[in-house]
Amino acid sequence: MEAGLLSPSSSSHPSLILTQDDLKKIAAYKAVEYVESGMVLGLGTGSTAKHAVARIGELIQQGKLKDIVGIPTSKMTHEQALSVGIPLSDLDSYPVVDLAIDGADEVDPYLNLVKGRGGSLLREKMVEGACKKFVVIVDESKLVNHIGGSGLALPVEVIQFCWKFTASKLQKMFEESGCEAKLRTFGEKKEPFVTDNKNYIIDLYFKKSIGDLKVASDAILNLAGVVEHGMFLDMATTVIIAGELGLTVKNK
Ligand code: 5RP
Repeated sequence: MEAGLLSPSSSSHPSLILTQDDLKKIAAYKAVEYVESGMVLGLGTGSTAKHAVARIGELIQQGKLKDIVGIPTSKMTHEQALSVGIPLSDLDSYPVVDLAIDGADEVDPYLNLVKGRGGSLLREKMVEGACKKFVVIVDESKLVNHIGGSGLALPVEVIQFCWKFTASKLQKMFEESGCEAKLRTFGEKKEPFVTDNKNYIIDLYFKKSIGDLKVASDAILNLAGVVEHGMFLDMATTVIIAGELGLTVKNK
């Protein structure tokens, strides 16, 4: 075990209480064990993925990983990856990605995901859709029985043009699920949150199940004005879950 990385089992020691961030770091470090020299890597976004990016940079600096090319999934990850010395490129130059590592907001028992509460779902879906292996890293709070049913948001990226129209169409589409569609805002002035792609995000909140996920996915994507949504169905190949009792690795 590397210095600075706690083992979940060490939580049995009375003086060591693992924080949620410790768990994220443990999952991230485990995922980085899948990385080999020469790989093209999808670099995820968020408070869990940032530990993986930092660790990859550290291993490159130590000479333990060589000839890595990183494909970042957001401007934020681009900045972080550069700061830790990961050489970067994009899907235009590397259309096939060997391995992507990213966090998730929800993971169901079939390894379907909700992503995008950090706002980077479009680039994440492009990069992670192009990879041979997609390793998802989460702490156990992200596990759900049904995605979209946790009472938290299902993000949908929409173009700014007539976003209210698009939001009302989305709400109507899931009327029977008690859907509420809200524009994502930030700050005291409640300014619209603008994605890296200059779009807005409509967060969908459901009171009841959204039913068949594939049907829901297709319906959302069919609506003009929608760019992408945060359901990542059948994309994860491995999910690494860090919990108080240890690490669990689930493979597709
Ligand atoms: C960003 C994402 C993140 O991966 C997701 O929100 C999880 O973030 P965190 O690791 O901070 O909990 O999809 O668009």
